[in-house]
Amino acid sequence: MKQRTLFSILCFVLISFGAASVSAQTCTKDKGTFRSNSNYDVNRRLILSSLPSNVTAQEGLYYNGSIGQEPNRVYAVGMCIPGSTSEDCSDCIKKASDEFLKNCPNQTEAYSWPGDPTLCYVRYSNTSFSGSADLDPRSLLTNTEDINSNLTEFTTIWEGLMARMTGTVSTAKSTPSSSDNHYTADSAALTPIRNIYALMQCTPDLSSRDCKNCLRQSANDYQSCCGQRQGGVVMRPSCFLRWDLYTYSNAFDDITVASPPPEPLVTVP
Ligand SMILES: *[C@@H]1O[C@H](CO)[C@@H](O)[C@H](O)[C@H]1NC(C)=O
Ligand SMILES: *[C@@H]1O[C@H](CO)[C@@H](O)[C@H](O)[C@H]1NC(C)=O
Ligand SMILES: *[C@@H]1O[C@H](CO)[C@@H](O)[C@H](O)[C@H]1NC(C)=O
Ligand SMILES: *[C@@H]1O[C@H](CO)[C@@H](O)[C@H](O)[C@H]1NC(C)=O
Ligand SMILES: *[C@@H]1O[C@H](CO)[C@@H](O)[C@H](O)[C@H]1NC(C)=O
Repeated sequence: MKQRTLFSILCFVLISFGAASVSAQTCTKDKGTFRSNSNYDVNRRLILSSLPSNVTAQEGLYYNGSIGQEPNRVYAVGMCIPGSTSEDCSDCIKKASDEFLKNCPNQTEAYSWPGDPTLCYVRYSNTSFSGSADLDPRSLLTNTEDINSNLTEFTTIWEGLMARMTGTVSTAKSTPSSSDNHYTADSAALTPIRNIYALMQCTPDLSSRDCKNCLRQSANDYQSCCGQRQGGVVMRPSCFLRWDLYTYSNAFDDITVASPPPEPLVTVP
């Protein structure tokens, strides 16, 4: 357990410096492996290489599809956060897909929520996962620094933001084929000059209930291990939660701080 936490912290440090989309990828361990150059291998390459164009061709920036016949059929999903440009979206999906070939060389199933900027998601498997809420395997990363303000006050604000956002994100907004269906980005004022920036997303095919449950669990997991840290990410096959004290995604471009500063500003004479 200790070792795992240490590893996670290391990963997050790497992510923060933009070097390790590596750690954003999770190769599912208990779903088996395939032989190199097998039909499954060929099909995986094929569907992953067509994902960037398939995702950007969809108005909802969400694509699900499959290639091949059982038992070598490969199911894949790709999506980008709402408002992404075609170019950014395509680049992000392509990078994630290429990294699967490197980091999950022969794993039958894997998923990825690349970081910095937080923008896209890719998953593939040999079984259809449409509409299914998959909470495992989970990956949790945290920042190395601790909160340096009053932790009690911080936790109250953080939990308020998480509760508000899990309510918003799980309310179905559009169709199960659009990435904005279960997506939200928001912020809360921590001090007059510091904000918490949080982003939550479920795959759009999830039911509202499954989405809420997935993200609640992620917020709880984070709080119980790492509540004193200055930022973190919880990734699952079906949902994503990230929060930090800086803007790590274009998602925050249009956001003004949700709650006013706790103290009124004073005029300096
Ligand atoms: C998917 O792969 C796993 C592990 O190799 C295997 O047990 C399972 O039967 C496969 N499922 C299908 C639908 O081929
Ligand atoms: C999968 O890759 C691992 C590590 O490279 C290797 O040890 C294993 O034999 C491979 N399995 C198959 C079925 O090719
Ligand atoms: C996905 O991409 C492949 C290869 O470019 C193409 O043949 C297929 O029609 C695309 N699917 C959709 C739904 O656009
Ligand atoms: C794609 O999504 C639709 C709607 O959620 C679903 O009916 C279909 O089975 C999915 N296709 C694949 C290949 O998973
Ligand atoms: C932190 O804030 C709480 C609630 O406002 C307050 O009761 C507590 O005394 C503060 N602790 C410190 C160390 O300032």
